[in-house]
Amino acid sequence: MDKFIIEGGVVLKGKVKISGSKNAALPIIAATLLTGKECLLKNIPQLNDTKVMNKLIVSLGGKVAFEAGVVRAENRNISNFKAPYDLVKTMRASVYVMGALLGRYHKAEVAMPGGCIIGERPINLHLSGFEKLGAKITVEHGYIKAVAKKLKGADIYLDTVSVGATANLLMASVLAEGKTLLRNAAQEPHILDLCSFLNTLGAKITGAGTNTISIQGVSSLKGGTYEVISDYIEAETFMVAAAITNGKITLENAPAENLQAVKEKLLETGAEIKKNGINIEVRGIKTPKPSNIDTAPYPGFPTDMQAQWMSLMAVSSGASILNETIWEKRFMHVPELNRMGANITTKGNTAIVTGVRELSGAPVMVSDLRAGASLVLAGLRAKGTTEISRVYHLDRGYESIEKKLEALGARIKRVK
Ligand code: UD1
Repeated sequence: MDKFIIEGGVVLKGKVKISGSKNAALPIIAATLLTGKECLLKNIPQLNDTKVMNKLIVSLGGKVAFEAGVVRAENRNISNFKAPYDLVKTMRASVYVMGALLGRYHKAEVAMPGGCIIGERPINLHLSGFEKLGAKITVEHGYIKAVAKKLKGADIYLDTVSVGATANLLMASVLAEGKTLLRNAAQEPHILDLCSFLNTLGAKITGAGTNTISIQGVSSLKGGTYEVISDYIEAETFMVAAAITNGKITLENAPAENLQAVKEKLLETGAEIKKNGINIEVRGIKTPKPSNIDTAPYPGFPTDMQAQWMSLMAVSSGASILNETIWEKRFMHVPELNRMGANITTKGNTAIVTGVRELSGAPVMVSDLRAGASLVLAGLRAKGTTEISRVYHLDRGYESIEKKLEALGARIKRVK
């Protein structure tokens, strides 16, 4: 298993190009199953998760090629309707093929995803939505099976805002007969992007980006070319990298309109943020001011930035309170940050972070993708050497993170 070795204390400076969005790419690749015609997807990040999604589609009988950020998919002859446990257990987003297969073929079988380190992660809303569209759901031998004679549009209210359920139900309803309404839908940029892609293929979706999405079913979808949005979580991670190292980083290809929540919080800490043409420039200060956060569905502060924010607050000039409202066990980075000299206590889903003057490098272990990003950020700031193990979690969701940081001056290397 690879490790990162970071010699901390370098002020990061320079430009970084933000990659395509992982969380947009995954449902969009899955959505190519909805048509037998060729789809060309651009700005797809080279990540373990995108590779797994392509592999899953190939295992279903689809034809997918992935090179230089472009996925070419032609899923004419789908012959297998079962997403196996080996793939689902490595990537929960595998569950997206369920909505797409059900939508086009009226049948799908997916291994039950199970819980993960950040929480239980149920999929009850995906399944009850499929049922409202006319599917019959059964669970046998660890697999969820959905079958339908035909799918019929329905009025579906999601009692929790869920990105996954919104995406899956969008895919299941685009080819259904009549109109579907998704109420209390997720408004994340990647949901908007999925809808834009589906509309490119001929779907009739309106209201994407609001909490009520309307889908008028069509009889078939065509092929098309689509460029996926840039990754706002990656962009925000680099914004925090500038803030935590007292550096100055220019983000290229960043989705400026999606960065608002983290941008406002960074301004509270004293960081400076400027738009420079199409680029965004972020400049940190030596000791950031404390700033509380409550994670919330978009446009709130993203749960996927909570861990990185905690690293920044760990070196702030006072105390801050971080409330994690989305995932029940998303504080796995706390003991690791404390090993680096941070002063963080937790009670339930609240963390109290009391800023310390400096962090000190230590051996630490990554538990999940964003926890990994928080440890990298802490290592960049810390005095001395930080050895980060289990970086495969980072490889799931950050494209060439160590190369991008190295280009900004960081002393980081990957060792086998
Ligand atoms: C997606 C993101 C993940 C992010 C999360 C929240 C991808 C691939 N992953 O995960 O990085 O942290 O959104 O922004 O895009 N819930 C239910 N029942 C359901 C589904 C969800 O109760 O059927 C609950 C979950 O337990 C959680 C909340 O809803 O508390 C949000 O989950 P959801 O938005 O579905 O997360 P994911 O789509 O799995």
